[in-house]
Amino acid sequence: MTHSISFCSLKGGAGKTTVALNSAYSFGRRGARTLLVDLDPQGAIGLSLDGVGGRPGLHACLRDDSPPLSGVVSTRMRELHLLPVGDVPVLDVDAFAVELREKDIVRRILAASQGDYDVVLFDTPAGIGGATRLALECTDNAIVVAQTEPLALRSLPRLLELMARLRDAGNACTLLGVVGTMTSFRDPVLLASLEEVWALYQNEVFDTSIPRDPIFLQASRAGVPLGLLSRRPPAVAAVFDKLVAEIEERLGVEEGGADDGPIRLVD
Ligand SMILES: Nc1ncnc2c1ncn2[C@@H]1O[C@H](COP(=O)(O)OP(=O)(O)OP(=O)(O)O)[C@@H](O)[C@H]1O
Ligand SMILES: [Mg+2]
Repeated sequence: MTHSISFCSLKGGAGKTTVALNSAYSFGRRGARTLLVDLDPQGAIGLSLDGVGGRPGLHACLRDDSPPLSGVVSTRMRELHLLPVGDVPVLDVDAFAVELREKDIVRRILAASQGDYDVVLFDTPAGIGGATRLALECTDNAIVVAQTEPLALRSLPRLLELMARLRDAGNACTLLGVVGTMTSFRDPVLLASLEEVWALYQNEVFDTSIPRDPIFLQASRAGVPLGLLSRRPPAVAAVFDKLVAEIEERLGVEEGGADDGPIRLVD
């Protein structure tokens, strides 16, 4: 079974692309065949990863009516593939969102992914319209990325309301959880914001939150996931393994198979 997950936030710059990209890397490392799809016409995945910008991607696929996975890029990690958005001309951004829906591209990506991928992750643009709404209508699960600062938190209910309305209308997308980002236990305002998320959304909030750390800027400058920033990845890279373990648990992914068990260290 292929699991599909949209990463969404109403407010821009909340950390969606960062969480989607680093989670995709962790999914791959944990052995899940993973496809990360960029639905943001800004092309955030292409901008974040060295070697991906300039590829044709989803935009060219729509233009040429080619198969939905024709723009998939494989990576040096066998389990991780990317579907960048490609170059969406500035004047075509609105038309692109309309075309995504008209050509039913998210559903077609998911149909084409069955059997080949264990998990398909969608990075979406900020907001609740266009590609984000489409992703919420077509994927089975959503993760809400919440920057833990007062203004960002005020926009959370609107996104959750959209999901509830879509569910009322028969949509199957489940809220897997809310992940707090750019948290800090040292800054009293940010800490209070994190506590507010916990208090308001309780069990829906993942135990793992993503700390605010300048290393993220270094990783984006280098165009790599955190885990590939250096031979010894920074400590904070491990939070995505924790987050993905939680996501797998909420998806009901079985740990290993029937014959799974401890692996001997020494023969
Ligand atoms: N935990 C973090 N600590 C410090 N900086 C971070 C963290 N997460 C993300 N950033 C930085 O914040 C900026 C915005 O992050 P990102 O692009 O992931 O947000 P986004 O929600 O995808 O934005 P958009 O709405 O534009 O798509 C980037 O420069 C990123 O490197
Ligand atoms: Mg983004």
